[in-house]
Amino acid sequence: MFRYTIAVVLSGFLALTAATSHAQGVEPPAEAANPPPSAQTLDDILARQAGLSDKRQPRDTGSADDAIAGIGAVLGTRGTVSDAEIWEDLRFGTAEVNVSAGGPPARVLIQDGGMWWLDFRKGPLATYGGWLLLGTIGLLIVFYLLRGRIRVSGGLSGVKIGRFAAIERFGHWVLAGSFLLLAFTGLISLFGRVGLIPVLGKDTYAVLAVGSKWVHNNVSWAFMIALVMIFVMWVVHNLPTRHDLVWFAKGGGIIGSGHPPAKKFNAGQKIIFWSVIVFGASISASGLSLLFPFELPMFAKTFSIMNDMGIPALVGMDAFPTRLAPHEEMQFAQLWHSIAGFVLMAIVIAHIYIGTLGMEGAYDAMGTGEVDLNWAKEHHSLWVEEVQDKATSDGQRQTTPAE
Ligand code: HEM
Repeated sequence: MFRYTIAVVLSGFLALTAATSHAQGVEPPAEAANPPPSAQTLDDILARQAGLSDKRQPRDTGSADDAIAGIGAVLGTRGTVSDAEIWEDLRFGTAEVNVSAGGPPARVLIQDGGMWWLDFRKGPLATYGGWLLLGTIGLLIVFYLLRGRIRVSGGLSGVKIGRFAAIERFGHWVLAGSFLLLAFTGLISLFGRVGLIPVLGKDTYAVLAVGSKWVHNNVSWAFMIALVMIFVMWVVHNLPTRHDLVWFAKGGGIIGSGHPPAKKFNAGQKIIFWSVIVFGASISASGLSLLFPFELPMFAKTFSIMNDMGIPALVGMDAFPTRLAPHEEMQFAQLWHSIAGFVLMAIVIAHIYIGTLGMEGAYDAMGTGEVDLNWAKEHHSLWVEEVQDKATSDGQRQTTPAE
């Protein structure tokens, strides 16, 4: 609140000073029209605004003082410090700003680096992110046209085998439902200005944007809880085994004939699982940082660890910055949150395709919890053997004829 007060008071003061000198009709002496070499020229200012020179040149206030000594008397209480210089000090963080509350972040009235973030968010982030999603959908359409629906080659047997317990399906659908809500509301926030305001108008979009933000902030908790549930329930089945190498070598059954053997989850599903866990956890961490502004900075530390590991050098980049202003921390959190979100959305689109249209018999696993025995033997032969061995040793039949 206080920082707004400062800004308002400051703007008022500047406006008043300008108005007063104008009203008095004060004309600067002729020599002031030719500034000394050290003073800022209009070209300097334009170059800086165009981003050609981003560093502030140290001001030679002494010679500037001399040069305009003649008009010092008419400059008002701030003497030779012009309005532009005050804004410049604020912009580059050299102004002395005192606040009574809010800590260091509240002392930043203008953050120059924020323009880079804004441009990146509006430009490459939205463009490449959008294309990634459209490209994934396009590839899946091409894949469907070439390969068609993956059928159960032996035909459906009519015999069912239990695949996922109710608690597993509950965890999965909470994760899926929350993720879809988060994805849609996140996309509305990112693309709303360009994509929705022209269609809905500003007033309607404002309601939608506020609602989206509310949903996004609150549904995130369901996503995080379900992520932990899924991890705990399925991590044992997703540890790598030697069968995964065979699965990869056969391209998951697309290359060569027959389906490679797999336990409860095949290597392709393990990739989905670990992507969801790693990206989901990273999106959650950066999301928490955004949800509690300035409370959970994590990028300076992360960058420092990455520098120590030599990661920037590996990809031919300079060391990452390890001294970040509070606002920069938030900007990096926002960018990473969105980048990881886009990658996971693309992966999940492919996952939804294979779980519904792409493969006959797959949806039942998460729908009813039971799958056709022939589907199970084709895609998870080793898992079927395990289940049947266990059923035999328990003296029970796990498979039951379908009605
Ligand atoms: C909303 C549409 C979705 C559908 C129709 C769907 C369908 C399925 C099905 C049928 C399975 C079981 C596959 C099997 O029996 O082997 C499954 C598993 C799984 N789902 Fe989903 N799912 C959806 C969304 C999501 C979302 C949004 C996430 C995560 C953000 C997710 C994460 C997982 C994971 C980690 C597995 C285990 C690995 C795998 O089978 O690929 N699902 N899903």
